[in-house]
Amino acid sequence: MIFKAFFKNVITRSGLFKAKLSSADLYSYTLSIDNGAEVMEAFAAFARERKISHGSIRGIGAVESATLRFFDPISKTFKDHEFNEQMEIAHLEGNISTLDGKVYLHVHAVLGKSDCSTVAGHLLKAKIKGAGEFFIQRYSGKFERKFSEEIGLNIYDF
Ligand SMILES: [Fe+2]
Repeated sequence: MIFKAFFKNVITRSGLFKAKLSSADLYSYTLSIDNGAEVMEAFAAFARERKISHGSIRGIGAVESATLRFFDPISKTFKDHEFNEQMEIAHLEGNISTLDGKVYLHVHAVLGKSDCSTVAGHLLKAKIKGAGEFFIQRYSGKFERKFSEEIGLNIYDF
């Protein structure tokens, strides 16, 4: 195991994981997304406006449409699924980082249909119909991503 330390940051690496001290500073925001607005667009706009380059997102609400994505790690391809019906955001969880210095969102959602069955996946877009109630936490520091040829995804670069 290698330990590397510099001002306010500690990086730990092992054969199983890598970890970086997230933050000693934390700001929490409650975000209500307008009826009819697209959630990923709203998260990105808020992150840019508040200059959040490292943070977390969670919340609930309701949407009238959504596009979820599934990543196949073998073929390194994506399959997108579009849903055009009223659904509850039963759970939404995501993070904010940067890619090439620009705000980058990684968000997953579990959406509940009218019969209470659920669909879930990587959230590409969703339009609020009803309430959109979220908490965004802003941490200090910057977490940049880099495309990994090996994995086929944009992975934390530290
Ligand atoms: Fe994802």
